[in-house]
Amino acid sequence: MGASAIREILKVVSAPGMVSLAGGIPAPESFPLDIMEELTSRVIRRFGAGAFQYDLTEGFPPLREALVELLAERGIPAEAEQIYVTSGSQGVLDAIGKILIAPGDVVAVEAPTYLGAIQAFNPYEPTYVELQTDADGLIPESLEEVLESHPVKFVYLVPTFQNPTGRTIPVDRRRRIAEIAVRHDALLVEDDPYGALRYRGAPVPPIRTFAPENVLYASTLSKVFAPGLRIGFCLAPPPIDRWLVLSKQGVDLHTSTFNQALAAEYIAGGYLKRQLPRIVEIYRPRQEAMLSAMDQFFPDSFSWSRPEGGMFIWAEGPEGSDSDSMYREAVKRNVAFVPGRHFYTEPGKGLATMRLNYTMSGEAVIRRAIETLAEVLRASA
Ligand SMILES: Cc1ncc(COP(=O)(O)O)c(C=O)c1O
Repeated sequence: MGASAIREILKVVSAPGMVSLAGGIPAPESFPLDIMEELTSRVIRRFGAGAFQYDLTEGFPPLREALVELLAERGIPAEAEQIYVTSGSQGVLDAIGKILIAPGDVVAVEAPTYLGAIQAFNPYEPTYVELQTDADGLIPESLEEVLESHPVKFVYLVPTFQNPTGRTIPVDRRRRIAEIAVRHDALLVEDDPYGALRYRGAPVPPIRTFAPENVLYASTLSKVFAPGLRIGFCLAPPPIDRWLVLSKQGVDLHTSTFNQALAAEYIAGGYLKRQLPRIVEIYRPRQEAMLSAMDQFFPDSFSWSRPEGGMFIWAEGPEGSDSDSMYREAVKRNVAFVPGRHFYTEPGKGLATMRLNYTMSGEAVIRRAIETLAEVLRASA
């Protein structure tokens, strides 16, 4: 399995004085601590012992009901019985690996892709084929070519504010991707943890809305409530939905009932609707601070993404530059980021790239960190 490269980096960045642009975690001040007591009382009043009892593997029914609303707001029609609750969306990824991947099976992933998905799938021993991307995310022709030339078990995508690039696939490409998936009878796994964190621009419909039979849609409350509660969920086409339940029965029976009850009240009680704009107002100025500092300080030889939301900016240096050595120099000056090569399944790719996160520090700190990082880049590029 191998230790996560990012966890190793996170150990380095916990050193005192270090400014970490490396993590991918929500700011603690984005958690709705002010309502947690009220929410807990409501859960006890409404559900009593039921909030502490064993429950259905598929998910706590009031949460599944509440998620119907949340999915409808994203344009996804669903019945409560179709929604499956997991321990984080990471729980969906592991379950998918377990039920779908036999050793040697081909899984298609964007290049670059979310490292945690690779970690979830690796124990089931797939082989990976990379899909080509550009500034608009997955290139549909690359998907077509890969589906024609490989026996792909499923395609894993993060179409909105992708981790690690922050890129979003525009709606016309989404339609083409959906059409290609339907024509090839392929299964797409659409992982959408960041779609709600939009700072500018109009929302883009999930790919699931264009091809419900071919898309397993996974999402999470980690970035809009609290990741420690571990509430993820998905909508899967049959028969995968049933297999997911069978697999979870053998793993943990169900996700924490109490946490699901909190999540149900958070959504149904209107708290999410009030909290989301607050979260957006924490992150928007941080992202703007990072982008404007990059505009001002980064060398002209670098280019970077300008996402309309999410948690990450992806930067790329000139050909031949080595973000690993830049990382080592930056850490000496108390700034950390993640070298981009870790997000590729093929070795030797992405050596000039880096992922920068802006959720964990205030604007002034971000600005100084980018100025320092730019000095390091200038010295090493
Ligand atoms: C693309 C993506 N998928 C899934 C996850 C897992 O999130 P969680 O298990 O907290 O829902 C993350 C977390 O950062 C992510 O970036």
